[in-house]
Order: sequence, then C-alpha cells, then structure tokens
Amino acid sequence: MSTNISFNHSKVSSAVNIKNKVAIITGAGSGIGRACANLFAQEGAIVIVADINEKLGKEVASEISAKGFVADFIKLDVTDESSWVNVYKFVQENHSRLNILVNNAGIAFGGSITELSLEDWRRLMAINLDGVFLGTKHAIPLMQKNNGGSIVNVSSASGIVGSPTAAAYCTSKGGVRLFTKAVALECAQARNNIRVNSIHPGAVATPMFEKGPTWSDFVNQMGGLEGAWKKIAESTPLGRVAEPQEIANAILFLASDASSFMTGSELIIDGGFTAQ
Ligand SMILES: NC(=O)c1ccc[n+]([C@@H]2O[C@H](COP(=O)([O-])OP(=O)(O)OC[C@H]3O[C@@H](n4cnc5c(N)ncnc54)[C@H](O)[C@@H]3O)[C@@H](O)[C@H]2O)c1
Repeated sequence: MSTNISFNHSKVSSAVNIKNKVAIITGAGSGIGRACANLFAQEGAIVIVADINEKLGKEVASEISAKGFVADFIKLDVTDESSWVNVYKFVQENHSRLNILVNNAGIAFGGSITELSLEDWRRLMAINLDGVFLGTKHAIPLMQKNNGGSIVNVSSASGIVGSPTAAAYCTSKGGVRLFTKAVALECAQARNNIRVNSIHPGAVATPMFEKGPTWSDFVNQMGGLEGAWKKIAESTPLGRVAEPQEIANAILFLASDASSFMTGSELIIDGGFTAQ
C-alpha cells in the first residue's frame, strides 16, 4: 500500500465550512435532526430534510426557507430500500451531487428484555440499524461520483455502555458504532475520500423518550414530567441534559472538512456520562 506523505500543511482546512454542500439529514423533522437541519442550512448547506413524518418534515423545510436558507423536504422511511432509492434519485436530479449524509433517524424504548416482543425488537433494529445500513450503502456510489463526502451516524452513549432496561436500543446503537468503523475502513482502503464517523450523545431534551411505551410509567414513578427529566439529568455528571443544538454542533464538525483526518472515530457528547 502506498503512503501518501505530504508536508503541504496549507492544504488542511481549519474552517467548519459546509457552504453549498448537499446534505441529507434523516429524522430531520424533530429533535437532533431538526437542530442539525437548521444549523447546516444557516451554515450555507443545501439541506434535504428526510423524515417519515411528512407534517414535521415539511414544517422544518418551510422554517428554514422562511429564514432565506435552502431546504427541501422529502418523505423517507429509512427501513425501506425503495424509499432510499427515491431520495437519492431526487438528490441526483435536483442537486446532481451528495456531500453529506447524517443517519440520524431513530427510536428508543426501554423495558425488561423478558417482556420485549420480537416484533418490537425487529421494529427498533429496522429503524436504528437497517436504516443506517441502507442509507450508507446507497450514499457511497453517489459521493464517489463527486470525489468523496462525509457520513455521520448518530449512535448513542448507549452504544458504548449498557443500560439495564434498554437491551434492544443498546444493541442497535452498538451496531451503528461498529458498522461505522467497518465502513470507514472500507472507504479508506478504497481511497474514495469518504469519511464515516459516529456520534454518541447522552441524554438530550427531545420528544424521543416521550414516544416510548414505558415513558408514561417512568413519568408516573417520578411524580410528573419535571421529575422524570430531573432524574435523567441527575445521571449526567454535568447535571443536566443536552440541548439538541449541542449535538448538532458536533455533527457539523464531523460533516465539515475541519475533521478531515477523522474516520472510523466515535465522538462522545454526553456531559461526562460514559467517563464514569
Ligand atoms: N434524545 C436523546 O436523548 C438521544 C440520545 C442519544 C442518541 N439519540 C439518537 O439521536 C437520534 C435522533 O433522536 P431524537 O432524540 O432527535 O428523536 P426524535 O424522536 O425527536 O426525532 C426522531 C425523528 O426520526 C423520525 N423517524 C422515526 N422513524 C423513522 C423512519 N422509519 N424513517 C424516517 N424517519 C423516521 C421521526 O419522525 C422523528 O422526526 C436517534 O437516532 C436517537 O437514537 C438520542
């Protein structure tokens, strides 16, 4: 294998610049994806808001357009390969390139493994893991046509350490972590200039928890919504949960050339949770 040694340091970009880059963000209708779509658009990217929820996705694209930035909404079910093919066809026809993919769509639910149905296990794997596989598989050929790109996979602190009531979620996010490393190495070996990294947020203030089937039991146990969030915050060394924007900032860094020597890496943004 030839090693390309360059002493021309002026080539290295220090700017977090994604101006005019075409970026697909999955699950951009809510939470972290929404913050990311707004931030990327504000930084000059052409944002493709891809979500299964048409109402939320269209709302985000309109919110971005109203600020004078560029965004399109396209409906995407990350579990469905034909849906992905449709998204890439749209991107190719309308923007002729793809520079950034953020595989962010995901769901979470807790509960005991002995009570988890196979159907729910498979549904979670389909969204959290199959979705990342399908998006990445079809992004690579398109990115290759444009001399490379950056793929950011949203894993979790729960993809690094276990949690006693979230076996399915931890499995899916651990899968995303190693999928990222394997694909990063494949791309590096191919010298196709595509970088693949994962991010690992701790608890973030988004509606994700509230959609899980056991959330209401937890809220009741904690004496209400405020108590539930307080309990989650207390498990974090910084004593609070993250704002979606704090996660979007890290995704922006990985998506941009400022992280040009990072591939196959895992960026943890968890207020110290996994440092314990
Ligand atoms: N919120 C947290 O504390 C936290 C922590 C660590 C990691 N994460 C991860 O961050 C990502 C985003 O989570 P969030 O908290 O913003 O959640 P969220 O529920 O606010 O947003 C998730 C979005 O994904 C979309 N989605 C769900 N299924 C889909 C499908 N099949 N196809 C396309 N879109 C689909 C939803 O419509 C929604 O807009 C997830 O992968 C999640 O696991 C979240």
